[in-house]
Amino acid sequence: MKKNFFYLLAVLTLFSCNRTNETPELGEDYYTGGRNGTVFINSSKAYEQPVSGIDGSAFLKGEQLFEGRFITGDNTPFSGLGPVYIRSSCKDCHPGYGHGRRMDRYNADDYGNGYLLVIYDDNGQLCPQFIGMPQTRAAYPFLPPIDESGIHVEWHNYTDEFNNTYPDGETYQLIYPAVTIDREAILPELRPESYNVAIESTIGIYGTGLLDAISQSDIIDEHEAQQKRSYCKGLPELPYALDEYGKEKVGRYTYGCTRSTLQNGPGANALWNITNVTRPDRTYHYITEAYANAMADNADVRNALGWSRDSVYNYLMGKDLRSEMTMKDFDDFMVWHRGLAVPAARNLDDPTVQKGKEIFYQMGCTACHKPTWTTGESPYMPSLANQKIWPYTDLLRHDLDMHEPGLRKYCRTTPLWGRGLSNICTGYSDHLHDMRARTYEEAILWHGGEAKESRNRFRNLTKEQRSAVVKFLEAI
Ligand code: HEC
Ligand code: HEC
Repeated sequence: MKKNFFYLLAVLTLFSCNRTNETPELGEDYYTGGRNGTVFINSSKAYEQPVSGIDGSAFLKGEQLFEGRFITGDNTPFSGLGPVYIRSSCKDCHPGYGHGRRMDRYNADDYGNGYLLVIYDDNGQLCPQFIGMPQTRAAYPFLPPIDESGIHVEWHNYTDEFNNTYPDGETYQLIYPAVTIDREAILPELRPESYNVAIESTIGIYGTGLLDAISQSDIIDEHEAQQKRSYCKGLPELPYALDEYGKEKVGRYTYGCTRSTLQNGPGANALWNITNVTRPDRTYHYITEAYANAMADNADVRNALGWSRDSVYNYLMGKDLRSEMTMKDFDDFMVWHRGLAVPAARNLDDPTVQKGKEIFYQMGCTACHKPTWTTGESPYMPSLANQKIWPYTDLLRHDLDMHEPGLRKYCRTTPLWGRGLSNICTGYSDHLHDMRARTYEEAILWHGGEAKESRNRFRNLTKEQRSAVVKFLEAI
């Protein structure tokens, strides 16, 4: 009896403890990806979780396609890599599903090298013989268009107009990349007369399904509203890109806003054009005519294959090749892609974070890092409809007047959600489109052009206030 009494007492105490310690309802800004698109996990797997209301088995199948390594050959799982390719796995460039890592060299085998090469002429146009994303790898006996050992990535110091010094006397260092490719490293048939090279790195993948569900008219409204603001004089026109039905839609993905929908978006295309694995809606290779001719004319390639010139050319340029991936695989991949949740914000009630938040708003950062959107319809994944989300981006391009930006004079405002977990999830926390910023602080200091006023307000803060802003950025 006595024993039972104590047991009862213990149970009562437990219950009452529970009562008094009840977790207060979190503020809505903790739900970065809305009620259905947020996960409360901040471990190294935080970027890899599904949203709610998802087909779990399709999600896992899709995940395998993103994480797996494709191989050359036929008719085995993950085969079909090549004839030329950029990487053999998505994950190499998007380590831990985040963005890549700042690199001192260009090697497709370096895990975390999320860089794409950008080769352009003196008028700022991509050199067409390399296609949009130049390849540096080939399946035997084909030759890579560019030999990686001839690519050089150097980091130079940059001194800004303030001699890299805050008004309070503290100094900082800034670096930017200079990339060159030796002429001899380019296949002779593809060598342009003159060319410039830049590198552009990855962006996180999580939450892109939610961004897809933002209605296009809301983006157009945001663009119109910004055009009326005086500091946005240089705001470029909205870019348009084809959706999966061949219709023009406002671009919202990639640094250049070159993709408008997820179904015909950067991931859907990467699965094909990074690897050159064909599928029913892409029964041709991501290859240029110039490259196909160079290989067809190459006797070593023809002899190794035992094929005629026409056969080599037709294989490379054929429009109706056999599919190396099924549509079911692609559909599962898109369930996974669309269904990646955003990690919840952390520590928003911490007084320093709150101070940082207040300053972030006061400095006008939110003019471009628009804190919230409410998603519209989401036909592919209904659970993502009507969610209030906190990506901190306007999805528009701006000119930050950065020193040597490569082709990214106009760059989309990068979503800031989840990036505070970058180090935990990917092992790296570099920032900006070419990863020139090693810290949040450097990223802000690179803001010029349209963001000059905001940047100057940041410069004028005390050291304590600056670190409060960084604490806030880490929290969202
Ligand atoms: C060669 C490295 C590389 C590989 C491999 C790669 N990506 Fe990317 N990814 C990038 C780069 C670079 C960007 C930014 C591109 C730009 O702005 O033009 C990017 C952007 C994206 C974006 C756009 C995010 C946004 O917010 O706009 C998504 C989504 C994406 N990649 C998904 C994938 C998927 C899925 C795969 C595999 C099928 C993949 N990527 C493979 C380099 C890579
Ligand atoms: C005029 C628009 C604009 C304003 C104002 C602005 N930003 Fe940005 N921000 C951008 C753009 C565009 C990028 C992407 C630039 C790039 O990658 O080259 C960016 C990138 C960033 C990044 C790096 C994201 C990443 O991980 O790569 C951080 C951090 C950032 N901004 C913070 C701030 C803060 C803090 C403020 C206020 C002091 C601010 N921004 C004001 C447009 C703006």
